[in-house]
Amino acid sequence: MSIDEKVKELNERKERLKLGGGRAKIDEQHERQSLTARERIESLVDKDSFQEIGLFARHRCTNFGMAGKEFAAEGVVTGAGSVGGRLVHLASQDFTVAGGSAGEVHSDKIVQAMLAALKTGTPFVFMNDSGGARIQEGIDSLAGYGKIFYHNVMLSGVVPQISLICGPCAGGAAYSPALTDFIIQTANARMFITGPSVIKEATGEEITAEALGGPLSQMNYAGVAHFVAENDLVALRICKRLLSFLPSNNLEDPPQLEADDIVVPDKTLNTIVPIDPKKSYDVRQVITRLVDGGDFLEVQPLFAANIVVGFARILGRSVGVVANQPSVLAGALDINASDKGARFVRFCNAFNIPLITLVDVPGFLPGVQQEQGGIIRHGAKLLFAYSAATVPKITVIMRKAYGGAFLAMCGKELETDRVFAWPTAEIAVMGPQGAVNVIFRNEIAQSEDPQQKRRELIESYQSTFATPYAAAARRDVDDIIEPAETRRHLAMTLDILHTKREFRPMKKHGLIPL
Ligand code: HXC
Repeated sequence: MSIDEKVKELNERKERLKLGGGRAKIDEQHERQSLTARERIESLVDKDSFQEIGLFARHRCTNFGMAGKEFAAEGVVTGAGSVGGRLVHLASQDFTVAGGSAGEVHSDKIVQAMLAALKTGTPFVFMNDSGGARIQEGIDSLAGYGKIFYHNVMLSGVVPQISLICGPCAGGAAYSPALTDFIIQTANARMFITGPSVIKEATGEEITAEALGGPLSQMNYAGVAHFVAENDLVALRICKRLLSFLPSNNLEDPPQLEADDIVVPDKTLNTIVPIDPKKSYDVRQVITRLVDGGDFLEVQPLFAANIVVGFARILGRSVGVVANQPSVLAGALDINASDKGARFVRFCNAFNIPLITLVDVPGFLPGVQQEQGGIIRHGAKLLFAYSAATVPKITVIMRKAYGGAFLAMCGKELETDRVFAWPTAEIAVMGPQGAVNVIFRNEIAQSEDPQQKRRELIESYQSTFATPYAAAARRDVDDIIEPAETRRHLAMTLDILHTKREFRPMKKHGLIPL
């Protein structure tokens, strides 16, 4: 063969392999309103930046007529490309090839991309669309998934890991995304450990695949998904936006964007939070007024909505925002809110993203279900995560800051770098109504007009404790600021703290209460 003939053969082979499972399977994928594995990569990475690795990979299975059978690229496209000019490593399962099923070589290719991400300190993006372990390969395919899980854990906290769930992701396969930092699930995608038919057989419960494993179920009830997208393109846009806030690895700071460094006071902040502690409001109105361009990427908006977490920038610097949401459960912390907050705090700390905590919390949610569900164990996660975090920690107390919940919302004693309070802040060991009932029970009962007495005592308690001044006198609050000036104070503090280094005792790892 001449070189020209060899090049022609090479190009033909490449072209055939890049067609995955063939034109008919690609059409089926499009009919499902889904992109193919390669189209997803094209939509994610900068033009012409993708370098593929392992296009010619082949399985070694001979069971069930598999000998000699070719699965293009072994059902997963892997390699590296840039997103917004920054390198990522990625794997994209190809459902058109044996349903994206993961055999030994398929999984090895994914692990190879993960190791490259680890060595180069670049994020790993895994686009899932698969029927799970390739059944014909038996234990080899199981072992393949085991290696993926192990390497997910190796990468954890070193490089950001993002999973997109674009199709089926069932059985044990769902544990790879679960071991990564963020899950973006499309409307078409279904995630579950056991599907509807197995559940019906085992427990008699009947449920559709969508109700069980669709994105709303996996976010709202399960807290598994972090973002829900109508389709692949939206999911990929979320992925790009998310990456823009993150450093490439744990040794880098997040990218800093050019920003205007003039901060004008925003008087509307003086009135968004009602002075009446019984009135609620949407804390996202505060967040969007504090951050650059009102650009706030909320994480898990539909799960534990009584706490709001997400990424934003202040004068071009990435920050993680954690805020109580008074419009849901009055902003009280419950089991799910504690888990959601703690996980987000740990992510930000691992990747050098300063934390801004906005406090308006009446306490931990009372209730038998909460106690028996382990609110002590779960609430402790938030205390643990904030205490363990060494990134700049800035807290703004807007209104209520009561009891243990205030401490758990990055109170001063957790080595918080700055605690600001608005003049509307009420900082106390517990809310006035509850406090008065406990400490003045006898006085109220013996009074001629118990109602009136109770009102007077509540007022007296409020003027003594439920202001920021007592806390500022004890230096639990570093400064009391006008709400309108908050963005300026945050920007200044982030600037002052950007070289913060804090060293802790050496240990293998802390024991966060799981
Ligand atoms: C081998 C598979 C496969 C698998 C699908 N295919 N899943 N091949 N191993 N796990 C193949 C099908 O045979 C078919 O091949 C092609 O992929 C497309 O599948 P369809 O069934 O035609 O597609 P669809 O109707 O869209 O249904 C998709 C599906 C279904 C819901 C994912 O295929 C399905 O239920 N698959 C099995 C899922 C499963 O039970 N997986 C668990 C495996 S064990 P042809 O040649 O016809 O195109 C596991 C444990 C992992 O994952 C543990 C890790 C720790």
